Amino acid sequence: MRPRPERLEQLPEQFFASLMRRVGSAGPDVLDLGRGNPEVGPPDYVAEALREGALGGATIHGYAPFRGLPKLKEAIVRRYRDVYDVELDPEREVALVPGGKTGLIELCLALADRGETVLLPDPYYPDYLSGVALAEAKVGLLRLDADNAFSADLDSAPSAAALFLNYPSNPCAACAPPGAFEAMVDYAQRTGTPVVHDAAYIDLVFDGRRPASFLATPGAKEVGVELWTMSKTYGMAGWRLAFVVGNAEIVERINLQTDHTRVGVFAPLQHAAIAALTGPQDAVEERRAAYERRRDRLVEALPGAPVSQGTFYVWYRLPEGVTADRLLTECGVVVAPGEGFGPSGAGWARISLAVTDETLERGIERMAPLLEAAYA
Ligand SMILES: Cc1ncc(COP(=O)(O)O)c(C=O)c1O
Repeated sequence: MRPRPERLEQLPEQFFASLMRRVGSAGPDVLDLGRGNPEVGPPDYVAEALREGALGGATIHGYAPFRGLPKLKEAIVRRYRDVYDVELDPEREVALVPGGKTGLIELCLALADRGETVLLPDPYYPDYLSGVALAEAKVGLLRLDADNAFSADLDSAPSAAALFLNYPSNPCAACAPPGAFEAMVDYAQRTGTPVVHDAAYIDLVFDGRRPASFLATPGAKEVGVELWTMSKTYGMAGWRLAFVVGNAEIVERINLQTDHTRVGVFAPLQHAAIAALTGPQDAVEERRAAYERRRDRLVEALPGAPVSQGTFYVWYRLPEGVTADRLLTECGVVVAPGEGFGPSGAGWARISLAVTDETLERGIERMAPLLEAAYA
């Protein structure tokens, strides 16, 4: 076989695949607090809409409209208006993508030329590296300052093919510090760099915060887009459906790629997403409240004052001498090692709240003695 194309050679090791291998090889009694996979799915009426859609007659099994069902785009536009106070044009400012991860890849392909730099936060969501590699672009890192609310210093950031940021942050579990979105718009206007705000956890915020969209910032739509996924808000991670919304030129580029690569999204899946977006929203709040409750429990039970303002993680500074490996071998608990999220993640661990109360309790019970001894 001929050698692989260079862009495949540039793909990093898939962090989450290696994390899952770590769990798989660790034995049956190990507790997995490393995962980022919602532990509860969507309400039954969502699955029912999928079933009804699939039984909807012969035409439903043909190609769906390439760029998405108008009703689905209207449903996400309504959510943006009602929940995030943002007006969107469903035709020009909304693109469907099969999941946020695919959206991240596509955004890199749509924004970066070979050899250009894409700026990522450090710590970053590891899958950002994949899109940069496939676009044959280069990674530039912008450190998030743990002592300054995990903000990025955009005043000294160079111009780039794109800037990616995400609040609430995976892995830092920080909501956007005051002025962060305004600084992103200002940076983009100053340098001509398009902004991608990855809003995967937008609805999972704690302590009375309101979900905050980057696009609600004046000028944001002129310089960037937001990536919004069904995965976390509705517990539909396996359904693979997300949206790129905002700047019309970037949305058009994503749609252009869709026309050439994917030929739309299976229509019953879109019907189910419409049901999720337009049906009763109690399950969204129940999910959010469950993560906040588990956050409270973890913060109360572990030493070192862990903080989480949102997402379904706690980003935890490990005490001197404690590593993710020690938590696995000595406590039988898998956490996501911080260094997997970039150089600034060294010495930290990401602990998941997307587990049952019982699993979290057992995890705390196992880890607390080692952590308390190390903090003493
Ligand atoms: C920060 C962030 N962005 C994007 C995604 C992608 O989500 P999905 O591909 O399930 O839509 C995730 C999933 O874990 C995430 O944590």
